[in-house]
Amino acid sequence: MITRRLCLRNLVESFRLGSSMSKLGCRYNLAFLSSSSLPQAREQFVYSDDESADVDWDNLGFGLVPTDYMYIMKCAKEGNFEQGQLNRYGKVELSPSAGVLNYGQGLFEGIKACRKEDGRLLLFRPDQNAIRMKIGAERMCMPSPSVDQFVDAVKQTVLANKRWVPPPGKGSLYVRPLLMGSGPVLGLAPSPEHTFLVYASPVCNYFKEGFAPLNLYVEDEFDRASPGGTGGVKAISNYAPVLKAQIRAKNRGFSDVLYLDTVNKRYVEEVSCCNIFIVKGNMIATPATNGTILAGVTRRSIIEIAGDHGYQVEERRVAVDELMDADEVFCTGTAVGVASVGSITYHNTKVEFRTGAKTVSAELYSDLVGIQKGLSEDKKGWIVEID
Ligand code: COI
Repeated sequence: MITRRLCLRNLVESFRLGSSMSKLGCRYNLAFLSSSSLPQAREQFVYSDDESADVDWDNLGFGLVPTDYMYIMKCAKEGNFEQGQLNRYGKVELSPSAGVLNYGQGLFEGIKACRKEDGRLLLFRPDQNAIRMKIGAERMCMPSPSVDQFVDAVKQTVLANKRWVPPPGKGSLYVRPLLMGSGPVLGLAPSPEHTFLVYASPVCNYFKEGFAPLNLYVEDEFDRASPGGTGGVKAISNYAPVLKAQIRAKNRGFSDVLYLDTVNKRYVEEVSCCNIFIVKGNMIATPATNGTILAGVTRRSIIEIAGDHGYQVEERRVAVDELMDADEVFCTGTAVGVASVGSITYHNTKVEFRTGAKTVSAELYSDLVGIQKGLSEDKKGWIVEID
């Protein structure tokens, strides 16, 4: 049954949609309400119990599934972000000379919301994404929402799209906060207005491989990030430049690309969309966040969990030779989760790594997922419950 009960009681009255409006009618009638009409009625949201959206939960990948609502909050030059509001999910209007369109002044984040067996909705460390956005905003000369504003917006977006949170075991709701220069500029300068927007989409596995190990290609022609640049923050401008290398690698049958440092072309940096770890005996190493590597929330969490398990965890430079000599390699990221790497190809040499249920990555992933899905006790206070 797909009937939807996300009704806006007072909206129904104020728009005189008729007393005969059924639950099903509510679903379709809401679709033609303009976004500008919603803010006044925001306080009157009555959220559905647990009516599921019309999604084939068994075949979710990582493609966009448009949901019902997005959250928007604006900030005029040097001011604070004003009260944000939920709007119907849909197109946004931007000046052709918006800073984000012309000069790439923008940041994004990714957070997952999971549904527990008892129906409760859980977020994993959203404050860490808020802090990372603040750091990124400073680098990109943008104002940023406070941590509370950020987390509140994420919670509101998840609640308003509750029916799109996959059932337990079928994936999660991926929440995408954006911060962008939305005001007009012509000469190169910070935008006079900024918009914080949060939308969401149900997702499951990021890679088409599903849980199968990845086959990575070490890129030594194209660079991802240089010292002094923006590789360490989640700037939108870090991502389009890697598409060329990614498409080329995928066309050659690889899952994704692993980048090297731009100075020595010798040290491992990160994959297009996730951090990388190597395992050798009891030692786990990952490239240190020195300004060119994204400080992943999953990366940081895995480092902590691995330390708790008694592994010797090292954040330092990892030479490509050391990578090729590892017992095990794995990637971490919000979208990716923890993905084991089956092989790496570098200069026409392909090396295979240990994979499977008895690996270090499987052990760490199981701990992480247990916390994220509310299956194990959250001793670290990483979970934020949405109520
Ligand atoms: C995430 O893991 O949330 C990311 O931002 C990666 C993105 C390219 C899908």
